[in-house]
Amino acid sequence: MELARRMSRLGTETAFEVLARARDLERQGRDVIHLEIGEPDFDTPENVVQAGIRALEAGATHYSPSPGIDDLRRAVAEDQSRRKNIDVGPENVIITPGGKPVMFYLMLALVEEGDEVIYPDPGFPIYESMVDFLGARRVPIGFKEEGQRFRWDIDSLERQAGSRTKLMVVNTPSNPVGSSIPEEDLQRIAEVARRNDIFVLSDEIYSRILYEGSFTSLASLPGMAERTCILDGFSKTYAMTGWRLGYGVMPAELVPAVARLQTNSASCTATFTQLAGFEALTGPQDSVDEMVGEFRRRRDLVIEGLNAIEGVTCALPEGAFYAFPNIRETGMQSREAADMLLYEAGVAVLSGTSFGANGEGYLRLSYANSYENLEKALERMRSVLQTRTRAGAG
Ligand SMILES: Cc1ncc(COP(=O)(O)O)c(C=O)c1O
Repeated sequence: MELARRMSRLGTETAFEVLARARDLERQGRDVIHLEIGEPDFDTPENVVQAGIRALEAGATHYSPSPGIDDLRRAVAEDQSRRKNIDVGPENVIITPGGKPVMFYLMLALVEEGDEVIYPDPGFPIYESMVDFLGARRVPIGFKEEGQRFRWDIDSLERQAGSRTKLMVVNTPSNPVGSSIPEEDLQRIAEVARRNDIFVLSDEIYSRILYEGSFTSLASLPGMAERTCILDGFSKTYAMTGWRLGYGVMPAELVPAVARLQTNSASCTATFTQLAGFEALTGPQDSVDEMVGEFRRRRDLVIEGLNAIEGVTCALPEGAFYAFPNIRETGMQSREAADMLLYEAGVAVLSGTSFGANGEGYLRLSYANSYENLEKALERMRSVLQTRTRAGAG
């Protein structure tokens, strides 16, 4: 079958591929600890599940309007306005099947072939995939490891942004490095966007999974609301990855174009899912706090454990549920190390290069697994990586 040429430019997410290889090993009887997939291991809160069931029983099995159910759009607008110090209404919100379609729609709506797009590298792989798919020009911006922290390289961003830059993708807290962008850096990013008339996709899907400080949205900075689309959703905050529920919050003038893209593809987000999302936003929030508390406990275990392995250092992530250890001292390439950990140690992790070329020398671990499994995984990693580091040194 001859595919359209554009398909050769479309990337993917290797997490799903590693998961498939890990499952193969499990079918052969091997024990594998899964640290590859970026989804909470918690169940969706019971009140949300019950709201979904009630919605189905009440017949919420039909199409909804393309941009989403009015009540949910209003609830999202209220929640975002309150939590992010912005002033938006339902006319600014589009409900989508997961947060991912917001990337897809927004880039399709705004980016022309040849336009430059700034995005983080290492970063969520779909940003780069979409840039390539649209024939736009990649402008990846790296991170600097400053002591125990990763910091997005704003000096480089300031140098590379210009009149050809159409869009800037900002992600805080970050997948994969887990760092959150401090307010002073957000101010500089906003200044670059205003000066060069750049639109911003602010991926804030981890905004409630934050261990230090409070969250600042780029959209809340002066002059930014009219040039920012926030991507956020339910997948991570409410452990709802399989429900497929997210949203974009954007200038009202952009909503009809994005809604038209949704009409042409998904039509709308599943209706009972939207009603469950309404309960998630308006019901009790204790399960979110409990989940974040448990993630923090695991983060502390994992970062300490990784730093105790010879040849490995790991910065302290301020948010999300990922660790991004530096393994350069082991002498191994990232992919080789990830394969070795899977096949020899039975620990599934991702190569840093799954998140862009700048990820070489790193691995990504998701600590969305039980405390006990994380302890076991660290022990297995220690024995395999340390042996290798010593062999290299010798
Ligand atoms: C940075 C980032 N943005 C967006 C998404 C997409 O989330 P969803 O499952 O809601 O489409 C993910 C999921 O892993 C992510 O890590």
